[in-house]
Amino acid sequence: MHTLELPVLTEQQQLLSSADGAGRALYVETYGCQMNLNDTEIVQAIMAGQGYRLTTSIEDADVVLLNTCAIRDNAERKIHERLKHLRYWRKRKPQMVVGVLGCMAERLRSSLLGEQGLVDIVVGPDEYRRLPELVERAFEGELGIAVKLSRVETYDDITPIRTQGISAWISIMRGCDKFCTFCVVPFTRGRERSRPLASIVREAENLWEQGFREVTLLGQNVNSYRDPGGAGDFADLLAAVATAVPHMRIRYTTSHPYDMSDRLIETMAAYANICPYIHLPVQSGSNRILQLMNRHYTVEQYLGRIEKIRATIPGCALSTDIIVGFCTETDEDHQQTLELLRTVRYDGAYMFKYSPRENTKAWKMGDDVPDHVKSQRLDEIIQLQNRISWEINQTEIGRTVEVLVEGPSKRDSTQWQGRTDTNKVVVFPHIGATAGYIVGDVVKVRIERATSATLLGCIAE
Ligand code: 5AD
Ligand code: SF4
Repeated sequence: MHTLELPVLTEQQQLLSSADGAGRALYVETYGCQMNLNDTEIVQAIMAGQGYRLTTSIEDADVVLLNTCAIRDNAERKIHERLKHLRYWRKRKPQMVVGVLGCMAERLRSSLLGEQGLVDIVVGPDEYRRLPELVERAFEGELGIAVKLSRVETYDDITPIRTQGISAWISIMRGCDKFCTFCVVPFTRGRERSRPLASIVREAENLWEQGFREVTLLGQNVNSYRDPGGAGDFADLLAAVATAVPHMRIRYTTSHPYDMSDRLIETMAAYANICPYIHLPVQSGSNRILQLMNRHYTVEQYLGRIEKIRATIPGCALSTDIIVGFCTETDEDHQQTLELLRTVRYDGAYMFKYSPRENTKAWKMGDDVPDHVKSQRLDEIIQLQNRISWEINQTEIGRTVEVLVEGPSKRDSTQWQGRTDTNKVVVFPHIGATAGYIVGDVVKVRIERATSATLLGCIAE
């Protein structure tokens, strides 16, 4: 009952499918960013190619893989806790192979092996092709580790196994060369490398044919995308995808403000199917802190980008990431961040307490803002941002918006849930005319109420 139905295998997957795993069940849990979700789909494809079947039940699993995140300490703590819980299954199924994948595997390497008497294999983000071999050896009792980072691996030839929904991720590049001083990603995901433009366009076309209605182009810093053969930059890629699948909604994440070119903004404005929504992490409203973070822009330059976006793409929604309590952050720096939020008035924000990461530059700068001060600053920015999001969403009341239907609402299955092209979640009841609509349709919804996170309405006849 818990086994997912596998889509038709590609030729490449069929070639591999006579191999070892035959019949064994694979269960993968994914933590962290969208890149990890897409990596899990790649891992599933690699393992399915070796004859493994996917399961959503640990009870049923012969192999359990945790695809992990290392961005903040609490992400890692969660994994250590999860490993403790897995001991229960290990006792009941001593043959079960347990692996840690992803950024935490890359960061902690061999120190994870054998943790809780449980971890059999540790595999970093550029070594997933070796998974079948390492799992096979683990069944024979051998611990395994593969954590080399690559300058070329993009898994371009692997078709991810997507098991749900009408919205798909496409990784367009891997790694990050920006080296923000707080960030572990350049160490866990290695150097920037891009997939060929033509292959990304082909993937988007295939997804449209399979019934997907939205794609998100993914990279740690998509703005530094370059076709390896010189066929263009990220603006060219967006234009090519938008032209190839003119009715597909196209999103992307994440942008770095430093690389957000005028040409990219103009390209977004030129295509109706490129969603008017940009996630543009600012991190701090203080120039002094931005410099310590090695972000390569000032608040003024950042605001210049926002102005250009708003002048070029009217109605473009914006979100951001903020870190509070970075080394040496004073109350004045914090006030400047609050001021920035008031100036930009983002539709939404992801807000975090600074978490020192070993090996980063900031690690050596110390962590001098006490935790209770970080908590207080975090509360303040969350409250302010919630109020702004609420106020912005109130202005949607009375408007009719186009919603791509994603499925039943998470809270109430008698309601549908979908998103506007500006990435706002819209919930509306399943009654009358809507009963005939299906997931993947774009419907017109008249907004009647709004919270800071959700718009609520009814189908507009
Ligand atoms: N501590 C807190 N937040 C962090 N981020 C990245 N590294 C850290 C860290 N060490 C946040 C940044 C980034 C988002 C993905 O996570 O805001 O944009
Ligand atoms: Fe980390 Fe900065 Fe790269 Fe984003 S741009 S992944 S925050 S180093």
